[in-house]
Amino acid sequence: MTVRKSDFLVVGSGIAGLLAAIKLSELGTVNLVTKKERGESSTNYAQGGIAVALGEGDSVDLHVKDTLETGCGLSRPEVVELVISKGPPCLQQLIGMGVSFSPDEAGDGGRLDLGKEGGHSVRRIVHTRDHTGRAIESALLEKARSTGNIDILENHLAVDLLLDSKRLGRPVKPDRCWGAYVMDVVGHSITPFVAKVTLLASGGAGKVYLYTSNPDIATGDGIAMAFRGGARVSNLEFVQFHPTCLYHPRAKSFLISEAVRGEGAVLRTLAGEAFMSKYHPRGDLAPRDTVARAVDTEMKRRGDKHVLLDLSPISEAKIKERFPHILKTCLEYGIDITREPAPVVPAAHYMCGGVVTDLKGRSNIDGLLCAGEVASTGLHGANRLASNSLLEALVFADVAVGTAGEIIAGKTISLPGVEPWRDEGGGPVRETVLFDHDWDQVRRLMWDYVGIVRSDQRLGIARRRIRLLREQIEEYYWKYELTPDLIELRNIALVGELIIRSAQMRRESRGLHYNTDCPDVDDVNWKRDTVL
Ligand code: SIN
Repeated sequence: MTVRKSDFLVVGSGIAGLLAAIKLSELGTVNLVTKKERGESSTNYAQGGIAVALGEGDSVDLHVKDTLETGCGLSRPEVVELVISKGPPCLQQLIGMGVSFSPDEAGDGGRLDLGKEGGHSVRRIVHTRDHTGRAIESALLEKARSTGNIDILENHLAVDLLLDSKRLGRPVKPDRCWGAYVMDVVGHSITPFVAKVTLLASGGAGKVYLYTSNPDIATGDGIAMAFRGGARVSNLEFVQFHPTCLYHPRAKSFLISEAVRGEGAVLRTLAGEAFMSKYHPRGDLAPRDTVARAVDTEMKRRGDKHVLLDLSPISEAKIKERFPHILKTCLEYGIDITREPAPVVPAAHYMCGGVVTDLKGRSNIDGLLCAGEVASTGLHGANRLASNSLLEALVFADVAVGTAGEIIAGKTISLPGVEPWRDEGGGPVRETVLFDHDWDQVRRLMWDYVGIVRSDQRLGIARRRIRLLREQIEEYYWKYELTPDLIELRNIALVGELIIRSAQMRRESRGLHYNTDCPDVDDVNWKRDTVL
């Protein structure tokens, strides 16, 4: 049996995974597994940028205040303080690794241009025009490539954690993680990757929903795998819907950044009415939960399939200079945003909950750390402030490296012997189209019943249906030869059920969770996390 051993196993190649791997490589050997090509991560699609308190009139305190307000009472102040205060030095590190951000209009390199997004009191989004994620991802990949000690394995999908409880066949408290079983997606073989410390940086779960801004990889693998292994997960009802994804039959997942509204663009109904000032004093730059719900309400009220994003307040020159990627992509779909509004709809964008971690990035399983969207650190609370996610990934990657260093420091940790992956000799599936049907059903169910506006009845229906779907999928899982599609299907179905259960638990409406049967905030009973 082949066993891959290293000091550290990193799952995921977005900003958190790559940054952590680069730093961990100074402490020991690193295997980094990523299920597609190395550059395919949610980071790569991030248009907005990184929120950092750098501008005149800004301060860590003000950024903390905006984050806490947007989090609607559920952000953990100590985490917010930590992340926001580490923003400026972490940004400098990123610049030191070769990431270049757009300079301000003076262009003398002295200051960075700062964009504005919803929920922020001032301009504070550091960006690389409108393709920040791509700029970060390519610089970090370049750095990781030139760093010895990191083995990046593409097309490798983590299936389940390697745990003492499984290895020893009895309950272990606390359990200890020693890596993961990982599938080579091309050959379909499954190999144990054994490590002293495992870092989950596997991103989010937007694909649980039919419409999402996320790339195909976002199937909640890390959350599902950690939960199956006994990790606590929290606040999964807080799914952030981005208000402005391009509405076009061929435009799969294309986001139009909130930064566009930051430069003056306005949301309008198909009748031309600008509606956001009816919903929030900050109008088009209200926090994202308010904007997504307002768009949903206007579409339902009028029976329209989308609303319009009117960019006419922004000059053509500014659009060309600041939003070249959005301009080009919309043109490919026949929409010239310098001359006409873009049709937009909300879509699932970001998972604010995830695997519960502490201030050191630790889960409740020894040896298992988490960073980035997979984690529920307490920064976002009930709603994420725009562009705080890359910042969180940056800071918690750094924190996790420190923790990993502490775990291995001054000790000789011997890696345990592990069993090969179960081989029940499952036969090949006769009709893979059955998986496709279930994929579609899970995602449609989540969209129709567990979307922006929820009710007890809808959640009850969703819970019953997802249970049946999960039973069916579990049967496939044990009966047939494993394929990447089946593994991901099992994961989205589990994460879907966890979202529904969390949403049913919360008997109030707060931030991103809105239930018409309990529409008010209940601070007495519910100013707390939902933990599963
Ligand atoms: C955007 O550019 O609108 C997305 C930024 C974010 O999700 O933080």
